[in-house]
Amino acid sequence: MSVKDIITVPNDILKKISEPIVNVGINEKKLINDLFETMYNSNGIGLAAVQVGILKRVVVIDVSSKDEKKNPMSFINPVIKNLSDETSVYEEGCLSIPETFIEIERPKVCEVEYIDLDGKKKMIKCEGLLSTCLQHEINHLDGKLIIDHLSKLKRDIIIKKISKTKKNPDRVIV
Ligand code: NI
Repeated sequence: MSVKDIITVPNDILKKISEPIVNVGINEKKLINDLFETMYNSNGIGLAAVQVGILKRVVVIDVSSKDEKKNPMSFINPVIKNLSDETSVYEEGCLSIPETFIEIERPKVCEVEYIDLDGKKKMIKCEGLLSTCLQHEINHLDGKLIIDHLSKLKRDIIIKKISKTKKNPDRVIV
């Protein structure tokens, strides 16, 4: 297992659509383990493979609170099957958009079909934080970020601010 670098905005890869996983083999399981390690290392509650530069439809989530036992959940090829009319609002952050929190209204309940680690088709109905988190992560697989809920002007301001503070790993002063 290894902690991967998390890609942050602006980066066009975050806008790309991820490809479905065809077979759940050793490489896919390794990818999921790496995603969990990377997510826990950054204190995140969800991470999509695209955020470490891998355009595969895989997300990992753990919405357990700090004093609870860990509850790692992984979803391969997740597809939203049903969304409730009733909505809920959370202030969402994203590991790919540092220090930015945006209030987003989403359907409160969602039903999602996915493939589990054994390659079996499963269905989950969730609400609350898990529902919001899963919808947020599935958005990543379709190249959609929380800043896409904002106007272009607000989005540009946030990206500009993050670009300025971003370290350039290639810059050397000798
Ligand atoms: Ni995110």
